[in-house]
Amino acid sequence: MTKKILVLPGDGIGPEIVQEASKVLKCLKQEFALDIELEHAPIGGAAIDALGSPLPQKTLALAKECDAILLGAVGGYQWESLEISMRPEKGLLGLRSELTLFANLRPAILYPQLAAASSLKPEIVSGLDIMIVRELTGGIYFGQPRGIRRLENGEKEGFNTLVYNESEIKRIGRSAFAAAQKRNKQLCSVDKANVLECTELWRETMTELALDYPDVELTHMYVDNAAMQLVRAPKQFDVIVTTNMFGDILSDCAAMLTGSIGMLPSASLDANNKGMYEPIHGSAPDIAGQGIANPLATILSVAMMLRYSLDAPELAARIERAVATVLDEKLRTPDIHTEECRKVGTEEMGDAVVASIMREYWHEAGMNQNLENTAHECIGSGGLSNNAD
Ligand code: IPM
Ligand code: MG
Repeated sequence: MTKKILVLPGDGIGPEIVQEASKVLKCLKQEFALDIELEHAPIGGAAIDALGSPLPQKTLALAKECDAILLGAVGGYQWESLEISMRPEKGLLGLRSELTLFANLRPAILYPQLAAASSLKPEIVSGLDIMIVRELTGGIYFGQPRGIRRLENGEKEGFNTLVYNESEIKRIGRSAFAAAQKRNKQLCSVDKANVLECTELWRETMTELALDYPDVELTHMYVDNAAMQLVRAPKQFDVIVTTNMFGDILSDCAAMLTGSIGMLPSASLDANNKGMYEPIHGSAPDIAGQGIANPLATILSVAMMLRYSLDAPELAARIERAVATVLDEKLRTPDIHTEECRKVGTEEMGDAVVASIMREYWHEAGMNQNLENTAHECIGSGGLSNNAD
């Protein structure tokens, strides 16, 4: 049956990178009979401008109906003065919450070709392969009460609530233990149990849960130490499980180990593996519209979509091999550029990935094709229509 994919380009560099990831999806549809249909809708700042809300009803309805979502990024300077409940970020947070996408998987893998682009010494990061499992629909991001209030003395006070109940902790814990079982069977739970009762409960609950997973070794670490260990000796980690806010921070940190935040994909899954797939970086308004953003995190997010929501791991592997090949070919967007490599823009990088997928395919088929303009043949001349409502 045809799978429906909702494409939400969003703001800043969102539309540019999503365009390249869509090319890859289109190529798989046309050349590998991937049975999908793409639909587009506005979210974030673009949706505020068009429809007055960061998460319009229609976008939410389409998101509930579809089989998977591909999202670019949300946010930008022009919406920063709006009150928090009306900001672009609310569109993204609303989707995560409305669809109960509680399990956020953020793999940080160092492609050996990019060792020189990392800010750490190659020997510290080479071979790095970490999975951060971030709780995504609870914690301080969503806890009530929250707000800014006026005290009796006239001073203003801002407040948020860090709250997790046992079932929320168990739910994300199970996802993390399951992820560890498929990898090196080491799970590090990150908390601040020495100070925050909420994460004391987190630690206790993870410890209890570990009894159900005797094959996984569970350790605990305070978040400040985890941040330090990530830059000191990141290869000690296999899977990390942590709260919403700690996961937000640690995943940006882990991203830089791999050379650029422009390389890291993510999957946000519900209990049935319906998912939203997005690069972990933001909308980068400072470079939006220049055609220089790195589309690889978004393209790798498509690979995660194929693996987790579309049951097409073989196609996911094709994308991942193609990304490795373009890096072997020394193509680099500015964020990962180092000496002796060729600097390319967003579109050229996307085209190169599509060309590499096709080249491998033709090679397997033993066909002696003319490979010139491969990507353009595959995506057709019209490109993608952006039929945002
Ligand atoms: C992320 C982002 C989001 C978050 C923002 C855009 C709301 O930083 O996905 O990591 O804080 O979760
Ligand atoms: Mg973040």
